[in-house]
Amino acid sequence: MQPFVYNGQPGRIVFGLGALEHLGREIELLGSRRALVLSTPEQRDSAEMIAARLGDRCAGIFDRAVMHVPIETAREARAAASRLGADCAVTIGGGSTTGLGKAIALESSLPILAIPTTYAGSEVTPIYGITEAGLKKTGRDARVLPRTVIYDPLLTLGLPPAMTVTSAMNAIAHAVEGLYAQDTNPIMSMVAEEGIRAIASGLPRVHAQADHLDGRSDCLYGAWLCGSVLGNVGMALHHKLCHTLGGTFNLPHAETHTIVLPHATAFNEVAAGAAMERVRRGLGCAGSAAQGLYDLAAMHGAPLALRDLGLREIDLDRAADIAVTAPYWNPRPIDRAGIRALLDDAFHGRRPATVGA
Ligand SMILES: NC(=O)c1ccc[n+]([C@@H]2O[C@H](COP(=O)([O-])OP(=O)(O)OC[C@H]3O[C@@H](n4cnc5c(N)ncnc54)[C@H](O)[C@@H]3O)[C@@H](O)[C@H]2O)c1
Repeated sequence: MQPFVYNGQPGRIVFGLGALEHLGREIELLGSRRALVLSTPEQRDSAEMIAARLGDRCAGIFDRAVMHVPIETAREARAAASRLGADCAVTIGGGSTTGLGKAIALESSLPILAIPTTYAGSEVTPIYGITEAGLKKTGRDARVLPRTVIYDPLLTLGLPPAMTVTSAMNAIAHAVEGLYAQDTNPIMSMVAEEGIRAIASGLPRVHAQADHLDGRSDCLYGAWLCGSVLGNVGMALHHKLCHTLGGTFNLPHAETHTIVLPHATAFNEVAAGAAMERVRRGLGCAGSAAQGLYDLAAMHGAPLALRDLGLREIDLDRAADIAVTAPYWNPRPIDRAGIRALLDDAFHGRRPATVGA
């Protein structure tokens, strides 16, 4: 066995159908008396529902979370937290809302109680991102890791079908890259495989019936596991590509992950055999890991081609240039021709070829 370092993340997880009922107990355990509730404008109703549950422990609602945490929004939220004398941030929503809570915590060390409603996984990572002058800077800081996470699958019943599949594929991407990470470890490999298995098992049931309780529970459980992997080990080529495409070409986060993942996996397939075996086992697929991921996305109606997200073919050369500049560590050495070919496949939405073909 390879030597390894494992660093457990200290957050408290409360999981289950109806787990939101424990909000009062969890806020009390955090010692909070004035919680600021954060949401996007679209989820204002959810924020109000949380505020009502908190009663006089709610200091107010800030409902202006948006994608990629613009510094201006972070400043407004920090000012609101300080004006209202908040001693805790309660986030209800996806990665954008959790990210705003992290931006507050980064400066103030305010504890976060996160209530995720997508599968992005940010709630179990110490990773933050803030966008300033069009540039998203990311970093790791223990202060931004939510102290408590309440996972209630009931809150995901209304996640639209298109977001359900792309958010689930976004989660799986964390697990796939975690399996071949330079600093991977046996605990995270188990967690990653189980995360993939749970999502691959939940997704078809949720696709057939959006409010399937067991299916929703499996997907959210899988999202927690996959997010934990992201929080624990480093990411590689796939995340670098998605960062490039999202940051430079403004492509949407979860959809971009969904489309790129099978192709980044195909690129790494021969260099990361043991990891790919775990991906295949998790997916329960007969073909290659890359094909299994492509088929999972396709079967559940996900977008498959970058051109359908509005990327132009003439942008592919620039995307390849950026992706090979300061690359993340990757199991297969990065070469520009290989990356350009990968992007071409993702642009057109081709099913990855059989390994060795
Ligand atoms: N720091 C990290 O570890 C980390 C990890 C993953 C993602 N992220 C970041 O998170 C962002 C993406 O997060 P996301 O994919 O969760 O999307 P999101 O948070 O941007 O949400 C997208 C939209 O869906 C809505 N929504 C969320 N849950 C819903 C539900 N259950 N029903 C109906 N609508 C719902 C939101 O209000 C929003 O309007 C990106 O900026 C990404 O970089 C960060």
